[in-house]
Amino acid sequence: MPNTTPTRNLAFDLVRVTEAAALAAGRMMGRGDKNGADKAAVDAMRVMLNSISMRGTIIIGEGEKDEAPMLYNGEKLGTGEGPEVDIAVDPIEGTRPLAYGLWNSISTVALAPRGTMFNPGPFVYMNKIAVGPVARHAVDIDAPVSDNLNKVAKAKGVKVEDLTVVVLDRPRHQELITQIRMAGARIKLIPDGDVAGALMTSMGDNTADLLMGVGGTPEGVLAAAGLRCMGGEIIGKLYPRNQRELDLAKEMGVDFEKPLTMDDLISSDNVFFAATGITTGDYLRGVTYFKDGARTDSVVMRGLSGTVRRVISTHKLSKLMRISSIKYK
Ligand code: FBP
Repeated sequence: MPNTTPTRNLAFDLVRVTEAAALAAGRMMGRGDKNGADKAAVDAMRVMLNSISMRGTIIIGEGEKDEAPMLYNGEKLGTGEGPEVDIAVDPIEGTRPLAYGLWNSISTVALAPRGTMFNPGPFVYMNKIAVGPVARHAVDIDAPVSDNLNKVAKAKGVKVEDLTVVVLDRPRHQELITQIRMAGARIKLIPDGDVAGALMTSMGDNTADLLMGVGGTPEGVLAAAGLRCMGGEIIGKLYPRNQRELDLAKEMGVDFEKPLTMDDLISSDNVFFAATGITTGDYLRGVTYFKDGARTDSVVMRGLSGTVRRVISTHKLSKLMRISSIKYK
C-alpha cells in the first residue's frame, strides 16, 4: 500500500528563493556589472534558503569559500531542522546575458536527499546530451551524432529534419554543428544558458528536441534535477579543459570516459527544482518592474509526483521590504 499522506513539497519554498534572487538581480539588467548582479542574487538566495526548514549542504555552488560573493560548496543552509538535503544553486545562470541585457538568464535551485547529488569536484565542464520524456533512453553520449538524431526522430515519430537541437554558441562546437547539419536537423544556437536549453526539450511544445554539447558541470546537475522531475533525460561526461585536469583526474581516480547517467547525477526521485526568469528567454519570461511592484515567471517541480507548475507572481516591493532584509529597490 502506498503511503497516502501527502508529503511536503519543498519546491514551493524553492520558488520563493529563485523569485527573490531574480527580483534582486533583475535590477542589474544591462548595467555591465556581473559581480554586482551576482552579489544581489546570492545575498537574496542565502536569506531565503536559510528560512527553509531543512538541514542543507551546498553540493553545487560556485566554488570554494572566500571567493565571495558566492554560495560556496559545503556551506550549510536552512533552519537546522527538517530533512537533510543536498543543494544545487545557480543564483544567476547566464550572468553575461543579465549584465548586458541579453536573452535567457534565469535563477535556479534544486534540492535532493543528502548524498544523492553528483559532486563534480574541480571539473567545471561536461559534455551533455539531453532529451525529453518521449526520447528517454534513445540516446547514447558515445554514439555518433547522426545515430542519436535518428533514434530521437524514430522515438518521436518524426523526421530528423523536424528535430531542433539546442547548442551553446562556442568555437568548441564547430564539429558538432557540422555533424548536426550533415544529419539534417535544425539548430538553435544559444549564447548562454544551457540549463534552460536542456529543460526546453521537455516542455512538450517541440521548441527543442535535444540539447547537445559541452557546458558547465554545475549546470548539468541542475538540468538533471529538472529533467528528473519532468521525465526527461540528460547524460553527461566530464570534459577536461587541459592536461592539468587530466592529471588531476588520474590522481583523484576520476574517469573522464565514464558516462554519467541520470542516476549518477541525481540518484533519487525525491528531488525538487525551481527556476525564475531574470531576462526573457525561450523558457521563462524575465522580471518586469512597475510602480512599487514586479512580476516574475517561474517553474516549480517535484520529482516524486512529477508535477510541474508554472508560477506567475506579482510582488509588492515595499511590503516585501518591510518583512525581509532583502533589498528589492
Ligand atoms: P553562468 O551561470 O556562469 O553565467 O553560465 C552561463 C553558461 O552559458 C552556462 O549555461 C553554460 O553551461 C556555461 O556558461 C558554459 O560555459 P562557457 O561560457 O565557459 O562556455
